[in-house]
Amino acid sequence: MARILVTGGMGYIGSHTVVELLNSGYDVVIVDNLSNSRVEVLQGIGQITGKHPDFENVDCTDYNEMSNIFAKYSDIQAIIHFAASKAVGESVEKPVMYYRNNIDSLLTLLELMKVHKVENIVFSSSCTVYGQPDILPVDESAPIKPALSPYGNTKQINEEIIRDAAYADKNIHAVLLRYFNPIGAHPSALIGELPNGIPNNLLPYVTQTAAGLRQKLRIFGDDYNTPDGSCIRDYIYVVDLAKAHVIAVQRMLERKAETNVEVFNLGTGRGLSVLEIVETFKKVTGVDVPYEIVARREGDIEQVWADPRKANAVLGWKAQATVEETLLSAWRWQEHLAQQA
Ligand code: NAD
Ligand code: WQD
Repeated sequence: MARILVTGGMGYIGSHTVVELLNSGYDVVIVDNLSNSRVEVLQGIGQITGKHPDFENVDCTDYNEMSNIFAKYSDIQAIIHFAASKAVGESVEKPVMYYRNNIDSLLTLLELMKVHKVENIVFSSSCTVYGQPDILPVDESAPIKPALSPYGNTKQINEEIIRDAAYADKNIHAVLLRYFNPIGAHPSALIGELPNGIPNNLLPYVTQTAAGLRQKLRIFGDDYNTPDGSCIRDYIYVVDLAKAHVIAVQRMLERKAETNVEVFNLGTGRGLSVLEIVETFKKVTGVDVPYEIVARREGDIEQVWADPRKANAVLGWKAQATVEETLLSAWRWQEHLAQQA
C-alpha cells in the first residue's frame, strides 16, 4: 500500500489521522519537530493500531533535513501537511515566527515534491479564511475575508501558494481541507489534544475546569446576536475529521478529481453556542463546569457553521459522531491525562 508523509503527525489532528491511515492499510512516515507535541504520542498510536509508523524528528522548514527524508522514503506517494504553529494570539505577538514556520514549511515541501516527483498534497486549512461569512451556513464558494490574525493569514497565503503551484504544474494535485472547530479525542482515550499552558480553545478549557485544574471557565460575551447571546461554532469530532483525510488521499491517488485543486469544508453543518456546549458537557459527564460571563474576546467571529454538502457528496464523507459522544470523549481524555500526571 502507498506510503503517506504526515507532517505534524504527532499533533492533535495529525495523530488521529495517522491512526486512521494505519487502520486503512497505509504506510506512514511522520515528520514532526515536537514543538507542540510529545514523543509519547507514538505509544498511543501503537497501542490503538498495533502498528508503528516511522517517525522522524525533523523541522519541515529545514530543506536539507527534509531532502534526506524524501530520499530515505522514496516510496512517498502523498503528503498530508499538518505541521504549523496554530495559536492565534501568539501569532499576533510573533508574526514573523508564524510566517516563517507556516509558510517556509509549505514552500520546502513544494520544492521537494518537484525534485522527488511526489504529486499529491492535502493541506490543513481553516474556516478562519471565511471570517464572519455573509451567508450561513458557509460553503466553499464564499469569499475569503481579510485575515484577523497572522495565523489566519498564513492559511490564506498557503492556500494561494498551493493554487499557484498547481496552476503552473498540472502534475500537482492538492486538496485544501477547511476545518471548522475540531474537538474530542480518540474513543480509546490514548491520544487527544495536549494544550500547552493555559488553553485558548473552548473545549480544553472546559475539560480542565471540570477537572478542577482551572477555577472557572470565562465565557466571552453573552450579548451577541444569537439565540442565547453566546457565539456559535461548528464543532467537529476529530476522528470524523481524521477519516476525511484518508478519503481525500484515496481520491487523489485514484485521480478521481476533475480539477487538480479541490477545496472542502469539514464540519457537521450544525452550529452550537458556547452555552449549549457547556450545558451539554455537564449533562453527558455529570460534572459541573463553573463559569462566568465576561467581556467579548477581541477578534471573535459571532457565528459560523459549515455547509458540508460538497464533502458529503463528492468525498462521500459525513460527520457521524453526536456532540454528546464527542464531548464525552474529550472528558475521557482529560481523565486519562489526570491518571498520567
Ligand atoms: P498541533 O499543534 O497539535 O499539531 C501540529 C504539529 O506540527 C505539532 O505536533 C508540532 O510539533 C508540529 N510542527 C509545527 N511546526 C513544525 C515544523 N516546522 N516542523 C515539524 N513539525 C512541526 O495542531 P493541530 O490542532 O493538530 O493542527 C494541525 C493543523 O490543522 C495545523 O496546520 C492547524 O493550523 C490546522 N487547523 C487546526 C485547527 C484546530 O482548531 N485545531 C483548526 C483549523 C486548522
Ligand atoms: C470557540 C468559542 C470563544 C475559550 C480558533 C481559531 C481558528 C481555529 C480554531 C485554526 C468562541 C469561546 C473560548 C474560552 C470562551 N483554528 N470561548 N471561553 O475562536 O472559533 O477558533 O481555534 O485554524 O482559527 O480562531 O475557537 O475554541 O478559541 O473558541 O467563551 O475560554 O468559545 O469566544 O466563541 P475559535 P475557540
